Amino acid sequence: MATVLEKPTNDASPAPRARPASEIPVVPGIPFLGNTLEMAKDPAAFFVRCYREHGPVFRIKVFGRESIVIAGPESATFMTTREGRDALRSKEFWEGLIKEYGATETITSTDGERHIKLRTLMREGFSREAVQGQYDNLRDITDRAIGRRWDVGTDIPVVEAMQYMVVEQLGMLLTGQAPLEYVKDIRFAILTILNVLVTRQRPKIMLHDPRFRKARRRVEELGHTMIADFQRKVADGTAPKNLITDIIRANLDDKDIMPDQNLILTVTGPYVAGLDTAANTMAACIYGVLKNPEVLARVQAEADELFAKETLNEDDIRKLPVINGAVMEAMRLWPIAVAQMRVANFDFEYAGYTIPKDEMIYIGTSVPHFMEEFFPDVNKFDVDRYQRPRAEHLQKGAYSPFGRGPHSCLGQGLAEVLMAMSIARIFHRLDLALPHPNYELKTKTAPTPGPAMDFAVKVIGERRPSGI
Ligand code: HEM
Repeated sequence: MATVLEKPTNDASPAPRARPASEIPVVPGIPFLGNTLEMAKDPAAFFVRCYREHGPVFRIKVFGRESIVIAGPESATFMTTREGRDALRSKEFWEGLIKEYGATETITSTDGERHIKLRTLMREGFSREAVQGQYDNLRDITDRAIGRRWDVGTDIPVVEAMQYMVVEQLGMLLTGQAPLEYVKDIRFAILTILNVLVTRQRPKIMLHDPRFRKARRRVEELGHTMIADFQRKVADGTAPKNLITDIIRANLDDKDIMPDQNLILTVTGPYVAGLDTAANTMAACIYGVLKNPEVLARVQAEADELFAKETLNEDDIRKLPVINGAVMEAMRLWPIAVAQMRVANFDFEYAGYTIPKDEMIYIGTSVPHFMEEFFPDVNKFDVDRYQRPRAEHLQKGAYSPFGRGPHSCLGQGLAEVLMAMSIARIFHRLDLALPHPNYELKTKTAPTPGPAMDFAVKVIGERRPSGI
């Protein structure tokens, strides 16, 4: 689908010339704002409509900037090809975050050889294996998080509750401590940073808000504490083998790949990467399950069977077709990364058009999630789609909740375990209800698309007691 235009060719009969970028179809918008309102309301639906009406490449104007969008299954496949890897870079989108931390790079901002090195360094720590031997512990951590907020008779704002749960789980698994006294500041700092510096949907003035400055200082303090603690443990040989140890060791052994000024951003990175992503997805999943009583009954039965086991292992979590299907449906219907954002490294051809060097591009990999061609009865929360022989997600370019290409989610394995355990434990322990049976989920788009912060469920009762 794509060809590099700058590469010399020996071919005697040249390929038909790509049409210039100026001919890429423009999505009509309103004066000044362009397509901002439609994009801000529901980015996934906006990209699907544009793809249907304008094809796999189009031009939009949002948040005061013109950008090219490539979308659909072809764009998802393109991301994984050699051409796609060479043609696209990520740097520009993370510059604000890097500057804010006084760092030189993050794993998300780096491409090529250095990026491969950083991924190799962090791969194990972010993987499913990182939870090996800790499944019972993770169940207990999850119980503690439930015990802290989900009281019978109360209404629970789900996204916020899941954010607290994720921070507690990540903190305990990676550092052995739940940074509970830091959770409020981690949330505030990260959500502001994502809004202002990464997705740039909020004004820079927010960075001067004293509440943000305080939250940032606290995250910095947490980072310093984590580093000092692990440096001590690495020195006296008591450090567990995990992500943070791997990062600290790299800093001691190879300052080129992990310089001192990148440490704070890197060790607190899991919270940035996991907070909104996993919390939004789990909140959407809770909605999807409660909205479909037959799914709820199956989730409860599967969870009850799981927790009838005295001790849990990786296989037990992997083999949860209904619960994992529910999480996958949540990621399909409410993808946190509607599009991946990149810049073109050089002129290249895509779908018959020239994509110019240094152009900002959205890659709408989630568009096929909403296409009947791939997912029949596309709006149905159908947890069985992913089972063979249907396996609808395995069609080419169809399903990309964790992104595509070199920057695809490194924490996928860890995220899948955390989400399956949390959803299983919540529905095993608690009887929940939507505000009313006809309730329709309201969504937000900033900083990450997902359920609105005021989406709340009622805790009607306790089905099973805590295991701790
Ligand atoms: C539902 C949960 C999650 C989803 C849907 C998700 C999705 C994504 C996506 C789409 C990207 C690629 C962004 C891009 O290409 O621009 C990404 C990157 C990443 N994610 Fe996740 N994520 C989730 C949870 C997590 C968690 C829990 C962690 C770790 C604690 C994590 C760690 C990372 C890292 C380190 C990267 C950067 C990879 C790189 O740049 O090479 N993610 N994630």
